[in-house]
Order: sequence, then C-alpha cells, then structure tokens
Amino acid sequence: MDEDIEKILIHTTTIQARIDELAALITADYRGKELTVVAVLTGALMFTADLLRRIPLPLKLDCVSVASYHGGMETSGEVKFDQLSLPDIQGRHVLIVDDILDSGLTLDAITYRFEKECGPLSVRICVLLSKQRKRRKEIVADYVGFEIADEFVVGYGMDYQERYRNLPFVGVLKR
Ligand code: IMP
Ligand code: MG
Repeated sequence: MDEDIEKILIHTTTIQARIDELAALITADYRGKELTVVAVLTGALMFTADLLRRIPLPLKLDCVSVASYHGGMETSGEVKFDQLSLPDIQGRHVLIVDDILDSGLTLDAITYRFEKECGPLSVRICVLLSKQRKRRKEIVADYVGFEIADEFVVGYGMDYQERYRNLPFVGVLKR
C-alpha cells in the first residue's frame, strides 16, 4: 500500500497535534450546550474517533452516510443520502464532522437538509482538510484542521476506490 504513495502530505504526529488544538476549541465553544456530533461516513471515521476522545463534554454521536463520488476522483455533483431517516437533532447544537471540504456540495446538502427538516438550534462544520479551490457551494467550515492545495489525497479515513483509508497519515497517490 505504501508503495502507491507519492508523498506524505501530513504526518501522523502533525495530525494528532492539530486535533488536540481543534478539540480544545470545540470544548470551549460547546461547554454547557446540548451538543450532537454528526460524522459523515465513511471518510470522517478516523478523524471523528480521534477528535471526540479529546472532547470531555456530554455529547451525543450520530452518523450520516452520503455518496457523491461513486468511486472516482471528482464529485458526480449529485449528493445521495443512504439512510431513510435523518438524525434526531431537534433543539440541539449540531457539529457536522467530515474529512474534507472540496466542492462544498456534500456539506451544503447535509446542512440544508438538517436546517430544513430537523430543527437544530445551530449547525456548524468541522473538517480535517479544506482544499483551496473555487467551491461550487459557498460553504465555510467553522473548524479546519489543515488547508491543502487542490490535489487528491488518501489516508486517515480518505479513500481512492475504497482503499487506503487505514493509512495513519494523509498522502498523495502516485499517478
Ligand atoms: P465535496 O462534496 O466536493 O466537498 O466533497 C466532499 C467529499 O468528497 C469528502 O467528504 C470526501 O469523501 C470526498 N473527497 C473530496 N476530495 C477528496 C480527496 O482528495 N480524497 C478523497 N476523498 C475526497
Ligand atoms: Mg466524505
């Protein structure tokens, strides 16, 4: 698996140190509030697990599963929800956690449906990575781990055709 990697973009220790900082910010912002964290499967799995273990608040955890890539390196433009019912977030502060903000379509679709259909008190977004590129939807993440260039990355939850999610670092694939 490692031989498919062109370069390591963000090392494990760097990721973990940044998650310490994000967790401290989130803990301070949500202290005393009814918080539900919603992880976007499958890419946000590792990030969410590491992040939440550093947030000592009585939060609830839920997940949504959406697909927009259908296996390739570019979004198909259509965001499909895999489950029939959305999380029960009525009257709660919601923090959506995702691996990467790219075109913005995924997080726009999720925030839109949450706000329209679920009655949350607030909705914020936390992403490990944010690609510096022109978004197709004006989405701004409230908590960002790292800004990266517009290139395709894998590892630490992120995949190419469902592989490489278990790499402990974020890397760029060989062509
Ligand atoms: P967006 O809808 O274009 O913002 O894309 C968001 C989703 O696409 C993320 O949650 C990822 O699952 C996936 N994605 C975007 N860029 C990458 C990448 O460089 N590597 C792996 N997955 C990516
Ligand atoms: Mg994703």
